[in-house]
Order: sequence, then C-alpha cells, then structure tokens
Amino acid sequence: MPLRAHHVGVQTADLDNSVRWYTEFFGARVAWELDRFSDLTLSRLPGIRRLVEVSMEGLCVHLIDRAGHTGQLPPAEGYQFQHVCLQVSEPEQLEVLRDHWIELYESGRFSFARTDPPTDIVVDADGVSSVYLFDPNGLEYELTHVPDGPR
Ligand SMILES: [Fe+2]
Repeated sequence: MPLRAHHVGVQTADLDNSVRWYTEFFGARVAWELDRFSDLTLSRLPGIRRLVEVSMEGLCVHLIDRAGHTGQLPPAEGYQFQHVCLQVSEPEQLEVLRDHWIELYESGRFSFARTDPPTDIVVDADGVSSVYLFDPNGLEYELTHVPDGPR
C-alpha cells in the first residue's frame, strides 16, 4: 500500500507566531483556516480554537491553536514525534535555510520555545547531508539532501 505524507499537525500556544514563522521560514502559504470543529476533533483536542493550514511544496502543516496550552515543552524523555524530515533538491539549500533560520531568530520578531540554534550541516558516509533545527514550538525538523534523489 503506497503512502505519502499529507500533513503534519502541530499544536501551538501562539498561532499567529507560528503562522508567520512557517510562512517566512518555509515560504509556506496559508491555504485555509477553520474555527468550527466536529465533536470528534473537540474530544481529541480539547480547547482547540483555530486551525490554520499552511502549505509548502510537498507538505502541509496544520497549526492548531489550543486554549489552555501550557506553552511548555514535553518532557525530553516523553513520547513525541522526535523529528520530521524534509528533503531539499540541492545541497546548497541546506546552508540557505540554516542561514535563514538564524536571520529570522535574530530579527526578534518571533518567539521560540527553545533557543537552540540549528546544528552544523552533517554529512554521513553515503553523502547524505542534514541539518536539524527547531520550529517556534520546539518541534524538531531535519532538512536533508540525498545525492541520488528520493530513497
Ligand atoms: Fe532523520
């Protein structure tokens, strides 16, 4: 059964901050938003107020505003998605995105749950290069370049 990623759901304590960061960092566009939810959604995500879908080529992210969000990171040893990896087509794009992350962070226009800077760009024995960085909610993304294309 072939599967491919459709969207990732991200809950945030500051929806506006996240929407601005995803649009500026990833060049995403706001596709649609919603402020009325099914009983199932309300039971799965108590306190949900708004959901904004931001769309970049290859992936959508659902940014979910939750009343009562603690604004806290989950315990480091707790269950969570550890990272989401997005693939770029040219290795130079990793450096561009890494620099862009730093530029947005240093602009002071966004709040971040974690202050860790992006990692260096690491290259493994197969020539696959990666950089790891955090979104404003402290969620980790890996950006990778695979020399021979998708694996
Ligand atoms: Fe990974």
